[in-house]
Amino acid sequence: MSGSVPRTLADPTTILCENLTYSYPGAAEPALSEVSFEIPAGEYVGVVGPNGGGKSTLVRLLNGLLAADSGSVRITGLDPATEPFEVRRLVGVLFQNPDNGLVAPFVEDDVAFGLENLGVKRAEMRARVLEAIAAVGLAGYERREPHTLSGGEKQRVALAGLLAVRPEVLLLDEPTAMLDAEGRREVLGRVRELAGSRTVLHVTHHLEELFDADRILVLNGGRLAADTTPVELFSDADLLRENRLVLPTVPRLAAELGLPFCRTPEELAAAARRSRDGVEAR
Ligand SMILES: Nc1ncnc2c1ncn2[C@@H]1O[C@H](COP(=O)(O)OP(=O)(O)OP(=O)(O)O)[C@@H](O)[C@H]1O
Ligand SMILES: [Mg+2]
Repeated sequence: MSGSVPRTLADPTTILCENLTYSYPGAAEPALSEVSFEIPAGEYVGVVGPNGGGKSTLVRLLNGLLAADSGSVRITGLDPATEPFEVRRLVGVLFQNPDNGLVAPFVEDDVAFGLENLGVKRAEMRARVLEAIAAVGLAGYERREPHTLSGGEKQRVALAGLLAVRPEVLLLDEPTAMLDAEGRREVLGRVRELAGSRTVLHVTHHLEELFDADRILVLNGGRLAADTTPVELFSDADLLRENRLVLPTVPRLAAELGLPFCRTPEELAAAARRSRDGVEAR
């Protein structure tokens, strides 16, 4: 595709963390402690766990906002702490608090910011910015000042900035936390589209957002409590309880009714019908 961001996936292991440890200055306990995992290119990985578990700290270490006390982080072989500019060409971040990400006077400038840094040509930049703003449902907001927007609107602007840049690696820290129900559905749809062609790390408190994830990391008290799959996590009551996680309503209902794993109300209804038909046929 003309004008697309150059791909530099020399190392197929997109994200590599080894014994990653970090303490905030003056803190009694490390925010992250001896965390190790690998994410190959193209995987869609969820990150869950209780408040204060270390999820946002991990995101900050992955994009070089913080430097590890010990252990290491590599993004396609690069160290974000010592090569932040190279890493930020590859990695797009949606912060938990969208105020931290919005820097420009108008929405359209903010969405264009990452593209300007990549040297994309004016005409293409304009087209990509307008497309991204429309994709998050904010057409007509181009000349609004970001500080006048609601929390959810700011979150959408930040996401539009990522959509415009199309980075190789997306770090999304609770991307739907401030969105209304329809906005959540739209944004998750975009995340799933991106996950088809990108490496995505998606931090969330809502397990139902991770039905399609390849893997789920559980961070609790700064430690990696589990590196597992959605189906395994959802079927492990102890692991869920220990990490203050609650099974989403539909799979919980399915389990209570003795039906197989279901994600959506429609799947549950179909499973219930099959079960009833099976009983009646006997
Ligand atoms: N800037 C900071 N200075 C000092 N301590 C911090 C700072 N940011 C986070 N912490 C502490 O580090 C630990 C991990 O916090 P972090 O924000 O990574 O958790 P989290 O898993 O993202 O939580 P949440 O689900 O609430 O977003 C917590 O104990 C928190 O109090
Ligand atoms: Mg957080």
